[in-house]
Amino acid sequence: MCKHGTMAHASGSPLGSTAPVETVASRISTRVGAVAPSATLAVDAKAKELRAAGVDVIGFGAGEPDFPTPGAIVEAAVQACRDPANHKYTPTAGLPELRKAIAEKTGRRIAMPFEPSQVLVTNGGKHAIFNACATLLDPGDEVLIPAPYWTTYPEAVRLAGGAPVVVATDSSSGFVPSVADLEAVRTPATKLVILNSPSNPTGAVYDPGVLGEIGTWALSHGLWVLSDEIYESLVYGTARHASVLELVPELGGQCVIVNGVAKTYAMTGWRVGWLVGPPDLVEAAVNFQSQVTSNVSNVAQRAALAGITGDQSCVEQMRSVFDLRRQEMLEHLRGIPGVSCAEPEGAFYAFPSVEGIMGTNWRGKVMETSAGFADALLEEAKVAVVPGEAFGAPGHVRLSYAMDGEAMAEGLRRIAAFVSELSA
Ligand SMILES: Cc1ncc(COP(=O)(O)O)c(C=O)c1O
Repeated sequence: MCKHGTMAHASGSPLGSTAPVETVASRISTRVGAVAPSATLAVDAKAKELRAAGVDVIGFGAGEPDFPTPGAIVEAAVQACRDPANHKYTPTAGLPELRKAIAEKTGRRIAMPFEPSQVLVTNGGKHAIFNACATLLDPGDEVLIPAPYWTTYPEAVRLAGGAPVVVATDSSSGFVPSVADLEAVRTPATKLVILNSPSNPTGAVYDPGVLGEIGTWALSHGLWVLSDEIYESLVYGTARHASVLELVPELGGQCVIVNGVAKTYAMTGWRVGWLVGPPDLVEAAVNFQSQVTSNVSNVAQRAALAGITGDQSCVEQMRSVFDLRRQEMLEHLRGIPGVSCAEPEGAFYAFPSVEGIMGTNWRGKVMETSAGFADALLEEAKVAVVPGEAFGAPGHVRLSYAMDGEAMAEGLRRIAAFVSELSA
């Protein structure tokens, strides 16, 4: 009654008229109204906005490679635009050639055969995560999410009706949960565990031994595992990326691998990701996607195909540049009093602790939280970082090193200068 009245009132109102408070609540569904905006995108947008206004801001917020997409991939997309076959709807699950290439690529990585029918091509890895959650979760199903976590996971779980259960980790375990950590929060309602290695935001790469134990534990309790491997190609030093499925192949019937071209081929804007899973899960997810978004843009799919099947030297070139910046960033951060930073072994983020700065004074105000630190840093030093609160890990900030090397050095210099002016 109230809702109908509200709708009629709202649609007939002149713009700018003020509606009663209860009207606002009923216009947006509870489910969507509860979604938190992406803090990482917000920080990036704020930095860009300030820059557009002429402020010399250095942004460490971006979660995307600063390189352009390699030329051969762009060229494949140009060709694809000219082919009328790509102007039409194509199968929801993805172009057959791309599904086959993804199945083969995943099979090579994991040393396990996959059929093209086990692949669903999605609008980016984010969409794959949402599709997986929507396909797997019923209201009340609990999902274990190790923190620090990528900001989207709890929101995707909630949107799908599930209940996120955060499992805290810290730098003493390399930000990797143990089986004991996970077991401590498992209940009869637990259905899914989300793993992300290499991790955004910590850069942690799960040790194969620990990952294997987690996989075996999930198998023994009949839990699903969503393994987000989107940073699989960005691993440094002696670390090695392993997939939980490669370590525990028996998990095949209850494991969904999420991946995409965004980070590996500098293709964030093309929006191509995928999930690979058991046939029944994929079939259901394809049905779901067929009613929601249909196929991913054919031109983008053709570009992704060119990336996956083409010369891979571009991947190593970008990775080695990231590695140099990673080492430079780590060295700078570790030189700042009050800041400590575990070595990130993958992805393109550092996740330093700023706990040592808490309690200091800035303009007469006590620095109490990492969010407060990030705000002050932006205001005073014109440097944008993402506060750990966004990743379920207060006391930290995330800095991306997927950025121009000179800007990075200047930004780190500004952070050091800002911190040196805080008083005890
Ligand atoms: C951990 C993780 N997973 C998935 C994604 C999704 O990537 P995209 O949707 O751009 O393919 C991102 C992007 O930042 C990420 O950091």
